[in-house]
Amino acid sequence: MCGIIGIVGREPCVPLLVDGLKRLEYRGYDSAGVATVENGLIRRRRAEGRISRLEAKLRDRPIGGTIGIGHTRWATHGIPNEINAHPHITDRVALVHNGIIENFQELKDELLAGGRRFDSDTDTEVVAALLTDHMERGMPLRDAVRATLDRLHGAFALAIVFAGEEELMIGARRGSPLAVGYGDGEMFLGSDALALAPLTRRIGYLEEGDWVVIDRKGATVYDAAGGTVERRIVETAASGAPIGKAGYRHFMLKEIYEQPTAIGDTLQSFFNPAGQTVNLPDLPFDLAAVPRITVAACGTAYYAGLVAKYWLERIARIPVEIDLASELRYREAPMPEGGMMLVVSQSGETADTLAALRYARAQGQHVVSVVNVPESSIARESDVVLPTKAGPEIGVASTKAFTTQLTTLACLAISAAVARGAIDHAREAALSRSIAEVPSRAAEVLAHDDAIRDIAETVAAARDVLYLGRGTAYPIALEGALKLKEISYIHAEGYASGEMKHGPIALIDDSVPVIVVAPSDALFDKTASNTEEVIARGGKVIFLSDRPGIERLGGKATATVELPLVDSFVAPILYALPVQLLAYHAAVIRGTDVDRPRNLAKSVTVE
Ligand code: M6R
Repeated sequence: MCGIIGIVGREPCVPLLVDGLKRLEYRGYDSAGVATVENGLIRRRRAEGRISRLEAKLRDRPIGGTIGIGHTRWATHGIPNEINAHPHITDRVALVHNGIIENFQELKDELLAGGRRFDSDTDTEVVAALLTDHMERGMPLRDAVRATLDRLHGAFALAIVFAGEEELMIGARRGSPLAVGYGDGEMFLGSDALALAPLTRRIGYLEEGDWVVIDRKGATVYDAAGGTVERRIVETAASGAPIGKAGYRHFMLKEIYEQPTAIGDTLQSFFNPAGQTVNLPDLPFDLAAVPRITVAACGTAYYAGLVAKYWLERIARIPVEIDLASELRYREAPMPEGGMMLVVSQSGETADTLAALRYARAQGQHVVSVVNVPESSIARESDVVLPTKAGPEIGVASTKAFTTQLTTLACLAISAAVARGAIDHAREAALSRSIAEVPSRAAEVLAHDDAIRDIAETVAAARDVLYLGRGTAYPIALEGALKLKEISYIHAEGYASGEMKHGPIALIDDSVPVIVVAPSDALFDKTASNTEEVIARGGKVIFLSDRPGIERLGGKATATVELPLVDSFVAPILYALPVQLLAYHAAVIRGTDVDRPRNLAKSVTVE
């Protein structure tokens, strides 16, 4: 959620900290701040809102120093304002924090009783106060940090600098990711490799419970028990190049348009054009022997997993259970021996998804993940990683990550079907061909952008919007509703179209646009009947279908978008695009901050 960067450098660090914060802004953007140690003293600047406001403050009142920390915040405790912005400081320490200190109130009460004063409403300030308390009692610096960490409950990543110490920084990781960057005579800390990539390619990842002491020359990592440990240093794949909008008005639009390429890049890892087959990396277990797959994910990634459930059950004949990671992690679900856990995540850092993965591992499941960030915690803790090649996704609303997840999951479904003898070679080749066509078909869908923008006027004017679909179109209806909610702030719901008559149909009147996701597939007639029921009650139907589907509805819809006629297997991938564009244009019409919608962050590393 929050983004952290730390530099123990040789030159003034503030410009580099600010650059790093810009690359981390996707993790949180309600306030930002930096602190340095200059001539032995802690200096700090903070601002509510975007990094540009912090930059303006730093221009007015610059600070120097070659060692410093920076933070971009997604509020958990305390409203988003300057006082609650990080870094939090005392006269001895400055620190930044990602995560939640669950026992902060108890610690705060204790410190208040001891006469300490607090300025903010945050849980983080308590850590700075507790550390200072230990130091004032004469504890050596490292012991004070260790004693402080021992008192904290919850999930956190921390970066700390100290008054009088211009070459020393301490980082700690419990629950929230933290990377160490190794430079040439300078060292770094960061929430992820993306922030550090312009500074260094050599990255080490702290493991659970680790804490690290860094100076300009290197790092000493300690594990939770206090012993020194070696953590592997890898060459990061993250690009240090600036990520721009390439002429698009928003990152989201650019990322929507990147989908034909991103899907094609993803397919390259799996598709063998010569044999018309799909090949997964070698698995350390037999897919044919897996009794059940459990899928866990959050948000958009969960809807990708829901499509995969339909595919895996129908094509590969494997029983699949799916749950939101935030529910699965606590419901003590029994899992069968030899079962497989499938986690889906763009960032690979979502706290709930990571916790679900760990739960499944403890239950003896084989862990397979579909992730976009190959060095993420989820990737590192999986037995097998099936990568998506979406590239960095900056817009908070997930678009190309979703369709590349679907692409990878479709390949998994085909492979599983082959491994289990559920399909013959002719069917395998037909399914593989249909998935290989998706990049060019996706480009055809994007050609409807102007028409979709016109339709978005109706959606943007609505207070409530319904999305309907059946079979694999149902998760696309859910995803369409999520997309619209998160960036336009219009209330939207996705329903299985057969469920309408069990309640939601009461909502229908001529003020509620109903977006029907209806490829011509085995369930089309049922969806068409449900659509007629909506029209009969005055509903304004926006019908997403192919030519036969649109002809079948016979001009009764308020608006239609004609998508290419494809094998119904790949339809959910293509039908994701118009619902993304519809949400995007509705949000632009309403004037919201499309790439950074209110209250959200790209990477959700708190539960
Ligand atoms: O990084 P992840 O894929 O694990 O993230 C999961 C959700 O937080 C994410 O998909 C979220 O729902 C998106 N903002 C939706 O557009």
